[in-house]
Amino acid sequence: MHLYLMSLTMIVVTTITLHFYQRRAEPIRVGVDDRGAGRPEQARLRAGLNSAIVREKPNVKWSDVAGLESAKQALQEAVYLPINFPHFFTGNRLPWRAFLLYGPPGTGKSYLAKAVATEADSTFFSVSSSDLVSRYMGESERLVSNLFQMARESAPSIIFIDEIDSLSGQRGEGNENEASRRIKTEILVQMQGVGTNNDKVLVLAATNTPYSLDQAIRRRFDKRIYISLPDLKARQHMFKVHLGDTPNNLTESDFENLARKSEGFSGSDIAVCVKDVMWEPVRKTRDAIHFVKTREGLWVPCGPEQPVATLITMQELAAQGLAEKICLPPITRLDFDKVLARQRPTVSKSDLEVHERFTEEFGEEG
Ligand SMILES: Nc1ncnc2c1ncn2[C@@H]1O[C@H](COP(=O)(O)OP(=O)(O)OP(=O)(O)O)[C@@H](O)[C@H]1O
Ligand SMILES: [Mg+2]
Repeated sequence: MHLYLMSLTMIVVTTITLHFYQRRAEPIRVGVDDRGAGRPEQARLRAGLNSAIVREKPNVKWSDVAGLESAKQALQEAVYLPINFPHFFTGNRLPWRAFLLYGPPGTGKSYLAKAVATEADSTFFSVSSSDLVSRYMGESERLVSNLFQMARESAPSIIFIDEIDSLSGQRGEGNENEASRRIKTEILVQMQGVGTNNDKVLVLAATNTPYSLDQAIRRRFDKRIYISLPDLKARQHMFKVHLGDTPNNLTESDFENLARKSEGFSGSDIAVCVKDVMWEPVRKTRDAIHFVKTREGLWVPCGPEQPVATLITMQELAAQGLAEKICLPPITRLDFDKVLARQRPTVSKSDLEVHERFTEEFGEEG
């Protein structure tokens, strides 16, 4: 038995190691030896790109994205109209080719792209620029041209390049990383689409540092949309969306109140806040020393002032085999107050100013 287990472990370890080496070694081997081998190389690049195709819809609906009405509308127009009403686009009226979504961190740029992937009837390619640079050293440009070619072949399609800023060199062409420069050039060429049919390929890109994009890249985007911090109404909606159907006793005016108190919060700040609030009922239950038994036989934590309170803890109830009968109290307004009191917005005033200045110069409000 012992011997059998040992050899089984050895086999598993060897398989994992081999697999690891194959994966690690593959790009390097082909990058050097098979250069110019033609088709097999292209097939391999394409196989790599296959993982960039989003086959399963991410399940983020338009309605899950709070606020950003005009950004949503512009995207809907861009992905829906050309496919369903191609005859609208005659003469010089062309479908949108490329959208740049920019704005402070955590405002929903990547999230919005997920909604596009879910809602659009197009093939969706999602690549992050840092991936392009790091994963395919030496063959990134060919990867980019294959990406665009695949997108054209499976049109209508959308190419989403997240964090496109990581392609831009740090100030001054000299310092620019060679790989990113070549990828950037190839993207420019492909987006220009000379002699190619780019009509049914929409490029979406996102960045939270729009100023770091160089002018050439910036110009390729015919629509640049500011994804700003959520306004009062959007914040109110977000608290609701993130809470979902988790038991709570918040009223409409409580949600309004939360929205007022979270001025300056980004969507992701609100998501973080709600996640933390979700734990408040758990903490309350864990720390309670009084519980009350409901008519249904459930045990709910309570204060000592409750007339029928029993002096007992969660652990003691569990020890009596009643773990399943312990019921978390609903989330209350006070739980939110507690969490909000210790949370600060992550986007600073100066961050915001940068984006507002960029909007005045090059963009439009989302
Ligand atoms: N408008 C929004 N509506 C609903 N949820 C949002 C919204 N904005 C942000 N969120 C929440 O915050 C999370 C983070 O947002 P996301 O990753 O899209 O930010 P981002 O703008 O891409 O930030 P970064 O610039 O750092 O990449 C989302 O997964 C979502 O839960
Ligand atoms: Mg993002």
